Amino acid sequence: MTRVIQLPSDQTKTYYQQNEEVIHAAEVLVSGGLVAFPTETVYGLGADATNEDAVAGIFTAKGRPSDNPLIVHLANVAQVEKWVTNIPPLAQKLMAHFSPGPITYILPHRGGLADNVTAGLDTVGIRIPDHPLALALLEVANVPIAAPSANLSGRPSPTTAQHVVDDLTGEINVIIDAGSTHVGVESTVIDVTGDIPILLRPGGVTLEALQAVVGEVQIDSGLTEKPRSPGMKYRHYAPKAEMWLVTGDDMVEKIQYISREKIGKRVGVLTTVENQEKYEGVITVVCGSRKEPTTIAHHLYDVLRQFDQLDVDFILAESFPQEGLYFSVMNRLMKAAEGKVM
Ligand code: TXA
Ligand code: MG
Repeated sequence: MTRVIQLPSDQTKTYYQQNEEVIHAAEVLVSGGLVAFPTETVYGLGADATNEDAVAGIFTAKGRPSDNPLIVHLANVAQVEKWVTNIPPLAQKLMAHFSPGPITYILPHRGGLADNVTAGLDTVGIRIPDHPLALALLEVANVPIAAPSANLSGRPSPTTAQHVVDDLTGEINVIIDAGSTHVGVESTVIDVTGDIPILLRPGGVTLEALQAVVGEVQIDSGLTEKPRSPGMKYRHYAPKAEMWLVTGDDMVEKIQYISREKIGKRVGVLTTVENQEKYEGVITVVCGSRKEPTTIAHHLYDVLRQFDQLDVDFILAESFPQEGLYFSVMNRLMKAAEGKVM
């Protein structure tokens, strides 16, 4: 049985800490249960990161491959040193600027976490979320919380409690509904174990913002390489229908042309306020205005999930300039399209 708890979305950490539903959810976590909760990025599926059986439950509920390590969430920066052997100056600098916030640091762990959290690696991903409810839950439970995104493996990450309900009802103990998440894409994952930070996953904190603080940031080759075999490397966030990411200055014309060719098919177009009127005979879903990258990121996963409900046969997605938050949006669109770009 999954219990769904409804809470107001706009309260302070103190309010949530004193709320009996939050206290109950914290007890569920401490006793080895699974609790889905909002963060500023996406909903997370939490378990006590020191409890191997509880963490195993996360992998089972999501259908997640066991070699994919989980992020450990902590209540504040001061707790980080309890779980890692060393916080290089570079990491300290980044933490001072961006945490709490949508960023995850890869650091060498010191043991004490369940082995399945780190998938046997020497490193662990640490994140202090910037969400009053997530922070309240962490403080009341007083354990590190391992939490991947609360979706079924391969589906778009959940940005509303309804997305979690759709994917995980019956599989987990509690879902805390406190409204839609603010950022909409996951945290930026950055390896800070060496002299130069390596960006492993672009997310809520932009590359430009990182560079402004630490200067040079290396970009993991996995982010820039063209996938050798589409569908092999990118199996995430994928809607059910075949999806293509359409690029170039003639993006709109290309989408118009291809949708005319697809006679008898239900074609879905992921579009923007600026372009939505330009297509005919297709099912358009608007993600926001091109002038507001934050709005596009906020709606992205909900839009991808809508295409499943609209039962389209084929999806054509508009693309965005590879900069700022759009760099993260493009990374997710590329994965959703399993690397198929035209
Ligand atoms: O915004 C977020 O980060 C959300 C919320 C719930 O906090 N969580 C999230 O978790 O997106 P997940 O499990 O969906 O993504 C975690 C990413 C994966 O790509 C994983 O491979 C990577 O972080 N990761 C975790 N530990 C790692 C490590 N030790 N080394 C390299 N990558 C790691
Ligand atoms: Mg995920």
